[in-house]
Amino acid sequence: LLPLSSAFESCQSLSNQDAGDEIRRSMFPDNFLFGAATSSYQIEGAYFEDDKGLNNWDAFTHVPGGIKNGDNGDIADDHYHRYMEDIVIMRSLGLNAYRFSISWARILPRGRFGAVNPSGIMFYNKIIDNLLLNGIKPFVTINHHDIPQELEERYGGWLNPLIQEDFVELAKTCFESFGERVKHWTTINEPNLFAEMAYLRGWYPPARCSPPFGDCAAGDSDSEPLIAVHNMLLSHAKAARLYRHQFQPKQQGLIGIVVNAFMYEPYRENAFDRQAASWGLAFNVAWIIDPLIYGYYPKEMRQYHGKELPNFSPEETELVKGSLDFIGINHYSTLYAMDCLHSPCSFGCDCPIRGYVNFTAERDGIPIGDPTGMPRFFVVPRGMEKIVDYIKRRYPNLPIFVSENGYSSPEQQDELQDFKTIKFHEAYLAALARAIRNGANVRGYFIWSLMDSFEWILAMASDLGSFMLIGKP
Ligand code: NOJ
Repeated sequence: LLPLSSAFESCQSLSNQDAGDEIRRSMFPDNFLFGAATSSYQIEGAYFEDDKGLNNWDAFTHVPGGIKNGDNGDIADDHYHRYMEDIVIMRSLGLNAYRFSISWARILPRGRFGAVNPSGIMFYNKIIDNLLLNGIKPFVTINHHDIPQELEERYGGWLNPLIQEDFVELAKTCFESFGERVKHWTTINEPNLFAEMAYLRGWYPPARCSPPFGDCAAGDSDSEPLIAVHNMLLSHAKAARLYRHQFQPKQQGLIGIVVNAFMYEPYRENAFDRQAASWGLAFNVAWIIDPLIYGYYPKEMRQYHGKELPNFSPEETELVKGSLDFIGINHYSTLYAMDCLHSPCSFGCDCPIRGYVNFTAERDGIPIGDPTGMPRFFVVPRGMEKIVDYIKRRYPNLPIFVSENGYSSPEQQDELQDFKTIKFHEAYLAALARAIRNGANVRGYFIWSLMDSFEWILAMASDLGSFMLIGKP
């Protein structure tokens, strides 16, 4: 554990950028959601209990050598058994919302090829009922990186349009079973990041990758992340159409999606790097949100990828367009963007789906912000204001939720004296409050995470856990 005095010194340096900002709930709109977030595979455990089917992460983590320390989510935080204790903690922290995800293989173990599992439905019923009893709004992600392994093996998961029908079945089961009580739905968590990790870098299942990454399996190609996202967008849109037609009129909830939303600043103050920074946003956030608002991919992506970028048919354009009631952004950090198309690239241009823009975290030896315990995550509170402003200008009038933000401590801290995490959230919330004062329609802020959890390939307990300490009236 760090001695308190040194923890306090570091937190003072963390707060320099926003010195003097004191955060109170009253600085945010009425009914603002102050929540914490998790996802099923990262916390539930009970991976093979009560008729749950195996999913892609169960299969992936059980291959020896796949994950650091041989970790997996078999037990994780044992939330499946300890959910009641966890809800009591949520209440004691003063949360008024909790974002969690449904394990697809727990409620539809074999996708459309088998029956609904009543134990899975019962588990989420207990969570939702107990949240409501404690005054906590359930904010539900239908899919957060996990799919039944059977769908992966039968037809190649997200690469096959067949998954759209399976996803609609999952969504329908959720709306029917939980929709009377759930008023905030998001369909898919971070399609943009998942596609990069699973189909470009080969780090998430099904671990496919494109040159120049890793040991690419034969047949993998640059276009796979684009195809996977295309299927996710159509899955979202079909689920949203179903919700709007059959459920929303009675259940009166909202449906959105959650994107990974890094902010990018130009590395050098020149036109090329300014374009690189705007491409960084277009090839990440707008890749997902433009089609769901406007019906087509961003023009930068269409120009750059040409025929490789899948097309929406006229009917699909109508289907995807306007299919969001709100936008969820997971925002943690800002990076510098450097042009790799017109200038030699000193950092190695390694990301075809980002249009060969390269990102780096330091300039003249000075990092963009204090590093955290997560690769690519730096403490840059101003980025929160900037990303929210970007979303507000590109998609006017749509409500925004910050569906994740969090601090991973590079060193172990005493959870009860977690000064760095507190200062981190104070600084980011101050930036968010500024964005709101400037007219952004932000409706909630979720800390990632309610508890330390299985951080995918970074293994168990990478200490993104944090505690909600913004309870001042
Ligand atoms: C993004 C993902 O939604 C979540 O699963 C992950 O643990 C956090 N951000 C931190 O990397």
